[in-house]
Amino acid sequence: MPYEVVKYLGPQPGDIIVDGTLGGGGHAGLILERILPKGILVGIDQDKEAIEAAEKKLSGFKKNTKVIQGNFKDIGKILTELKIDQVDGILLDLGISMHQILTPERGFGFYPSPENLKSPLDMRMNTETGITAADILNTWKERDLTELFFKLGDEKYSRSIAMQIVRRRPLETVGDLLEAIKAGTPPSYRAKSLKNKWAANVFRALRMEVNN
Ligand SMILES: C[S@@+](CC[C@H](N)C(=O)[O-])C[C@H]1O[C@@H](n2cnc3c(N)ncnc32)[C@H](O)[C@@H]1O
Repeated sequence: MPYEVVKYLGPQPGDIIVDGTLGGGGHAGLILERILPKGILVGIDQDKEAIEAAEKKLSGFKKNTKVIQGNFKDIGKILTELKIDQVDGILLDLGISMHQILTPERGFGFYPSPENLKSPLDMRMNTETGITAADILNTWKERDLTELFFKLGDEKYSRSIAMQIVRRRPLETVGDLLEAIKAGTPPSYRAKSLKNKWAANVFRALRMEVNN
C-alpha cells in the first residue's frame, strides 16, 4: 500500500512535499528517495514518539528533511515559519499508527487484551497537552456523549452506551470503558462485529474529539 500511495502522489526530484501524518516515517522515506537530491520533505506529527521514531528512520536524509512536532491543521503557519510558500504535494495518512495502538499506556487499544484492560483512558496523540478521553467520559453530559458517539463514531447504540458510562463514573481504564460499552450493546451486536471490533466506533469518536 505505501508504494501505491507514493506512486499516485507522484513526487519528482526537487519537489517540496508535506507528510502531515509522519508516523514512523514509512511513507516519508519512500517520498525522500524520489525527491533527492534537492527536494524537501516536511514531516509533521503531533506525537512526540512518532517524531523520535521518524527522525531515527530518516536520519540518512537530514539535509532534505524538516521534521516538526505539531498538528497538520497548522500547516500554513508551519510552512510560513519554514519560509516555504508553495508545495508540490501533501500526504495525509489519517488514523492511528501501529505504534500508538500497540502501546497500552496510550489507551488507544480497544481489544480486550489483559494489557489494554489496565490502560489509562488517555488517547492523546500529543501527550504534553489537551484533555484526555477520561476527562470527556467523566465530565460530559449524557446527551453530549450520545451525540459524540453518534456523530463521530456512527454508533447506533450511542444512547445506551452513554447511559452506562454516566452510571459507572468515574471510569479510569480501558477495561472500565469496555464494560460500559458491553452493558450498552446487545450480545448479538457484539457477536456480529467483524474481528471483535465492537468497541471501535466509540474509541474512534473519542480519539477524534480528544485530538481535535
Ligand atoms: C496512520 S499513522 C501514519 C503512518 C505513516 N504514514 C507511516 O508511514 O509511518 C497516523 C499518524 O498521524 C498522526 N496524526 C493524526 N492526526 C494528526 C494531526 N491532526 N496532526 C498531526 N499528526 C496527526 C498520528 O499521531 C500518527 O502518528
